[in-house]
Amino acid sequence: MAQLRRIGAAKQARKAMTATRTIAFMNQKGGVGKTTTAVNLAAALARTGRRVGVIDLDPQAHLTLHLGASVSDGRPSIYDVLVDESTLVDEAAVTLPQGLLLLPAETDLAGAEVELASAPDRASRLAARCAASKAIRGLDFLLIDCPPSLGLLTLNALSLAREVVVPMQAHFLALQGLSKLLETVALVGAGVNPHLRVSGVVLCMYEGHTRLAAEVVADLEGFLDAARDQPVPWSGCRILRPPIRRNIKLAECPSFGSSIFEYDAHCPGAEDYLALARDLAEGGAADTADADGGRDIERVEATPVVMTAPRGDGAAPRAAAATAAASESNAAS
Ligand SMILES: Nc1ncnc2c1ncn2[C@@H]1O[C@H](COP(=O)(O)OP(=O)(O)OP(=O)(O)O)[C@@H](O)[C@H]1O
Ligand SMILES: [Mg+2]
Repeated sequence: MAQLRRIGAAKQARKAMTATRTIAFMNQKGGVGKTTTAVNLAAALARTGRRVGVIDLDPQAHLTLHLGASVSDGRPSIYDVLVDESTLVDEAAVTLPQGLLLLPAETDLAGAEVELASAPDRASRLAARCAASKAIRGLDFLLIDCPPSLGLLTLNALSLAREVVVPMQAHFLALQGLSKLLETVALVGAGVNPHLRVSGVVLCMYEGHTRLAAEVVADLEGFLDAARDQPVPWSGCRILRPPIRRNIKLAECPSFGSSIFEYDAHCPGAEDYLALARDLAEGGAADTADADGGRDIERVEATPVVMTAPRGDGAAPRAAAATAAASESNAAS
């Protein structure tokens, strides 16, 4: 009963925010471009007139630092919002010069994982707190930067979000990590957030001239195409365009506390993120819109997608085969 109430609270939160595209940037692998993408996509969307909020859910606080912000003395942060019932989202939120609304983090956020561990509503705290926030309800986009792990903080992001976007590099091992990630999304979908969808993959630090990149992209496309008519949360997932080229300016701008647009608005990194923002905004959400009319995926079990065969073994469509195997095991269960 209590669990049903908690699921209800998270559902209410998402309903209250139906006009807001709430997107978790998630990949349990570290250093793949999650923060860089959350920051620069948020800044790009704001430049096109959208009202955008960002939540830093990573105890490394890289998103907060990248945006040149910090948690000033005595002010609450996302940590307080999560662990202290009396702290409102609107008290912790700050408006940045870029026009972004930020829920900042500092390193004490690591303690939230431990402090929340025995709380019955530990996975849906963020959703419930955001539902009560006027500032968040007025947003067009809310982007959440997840830590490189699948712990409670990431779970809170997934129970608030409607969409997951996966930043990744075009490497073979990155494809393998994707299976674990999709399994987690399916589990959360089956539990607290049945309308959660994986809507896109962003290719970061892309080196288009390499054969490996082309092969990984072909595998990824095959995998996503094979999922199109399957009852899985990633059936509407697409590779967002363009891929983000490796560009040193993107690595330099965090140390100036700026997004790429204040640092060098004409570099390839700025061009790519602006075009990506257009694709994300115009492409729409993947089958996420209606809280009660969405496809029923509550029965879908976590689908371990295994991509193991190394290139050159003649098993070109290995990713597609993995999806077929996963859906067979679903059908059997
Ligand atoms: N397109 C790019 N070109 C060059 N450098 C990049 C690019 N994208 C990201 N980087 C750099 O790569 C590093 C990792 O990126 P980022 O911090 O965004 O990854 P992350 O997935 O958020 O990492 P973590 O898992 O630790 O949170 C950073 O130094 C960042 O500046
Ligand atoms: Mg990061």
